[in-house]
Amino acid sequence: MITLRTKSEIGKIGRAGRIVASVLSELREMAVPGVTTRDLDRCAESRIRAAGAIPTFKGYHGYPASICTSFNEEVVHGIPSARKLKEGDILGIDCGATLEGYVGDAAITVPVGRVDEALLRLLSVAEESLRRAIEQARVGNRLYDVSHAVQAHAEAHGYSVVRDFCGHGVGTRMHEDPQVPNYGKPGTGIKLRPGLVLAIEPMVNSGSHEVDVQADGWTVVTRDGRPSAHFEHTIAITEEGPVVLTAFNPVIETLQEVS
Ligand code: MF3
Ligand code: CO
Repeated sequence: MITLRTKSEIGKIGRAGRIVASVLSELREMAVPGVTTRDLDRCAESRIRAAGAIPTFKGYHGYPASICTSFNEEVVHGIPSARKLKEGDILGIDCGATLEGYVGDAAITVPVGRVDEALLRLLSVAEESLRRAIEQARVGNRLYDVSHAVQAHAEAHGYSVVRDFCGHGVGTRMHEDPQVPNYGKPGTGIKLRPGLVLAIEPMVNSGSHEVDVQADGWTVVTRDGRPSAHFEHTIAITEEGPVVLTAFNPVIETLQEVS
């Protein structure tokens, strides 16, 4: 069941989203060699709680932490641990916050210290695929126009998109309908309507699209062991176009208008 959100609800998702954005921006700066993913998780949890919100991921189907941290060939859902970041790694950081019952969900993948040129290219293509997907999230388009934008950009650069995990609707729960695949046929899927709030989350693999879940029951890795990048924003579809609700510097006027 798809729930369309009122402007006031979109404003609330935006307030949760801005907490997520500020946490991710702090974690990006913290992501230097020697820091552990547990350090990042502790920081995230304390910032989220200090903002009066709840870490959405913690306890979700038994998930043990407030963020997901995914190294290199890990695609998504890596669990924070005593593992240290090291120069040359890329690290996906995924974060969710619930404020007054509304959820914001976003992710970035960051380079640790100096990293390989090929990895930097993977990061920029994955991030650009998200930007292009958001651009398609407009009234008049259909859902798989969004999906196709991710796929077209990633594949044009010789990368593949993960099929087994998708983006999703967001609102009062982290995972709502509809599913938002990272591949699809343009001009198909449901019509995009004002009030639809989506987490769009490209998972772009440098090798094949196949993935496996590790024995911990969470960590998703590429089957071929090649690196993968993940970026995610929560966005609202409005008559005025897509509004990114997890941007660090949101268009405040737009958010106030909708709140
Ligand atoms: N952004 C991720 C997702 O949409 C976060 C879920 S992690 C979980 O799947 F641990 F909370 F499940
Ligand atoms: Co998500």
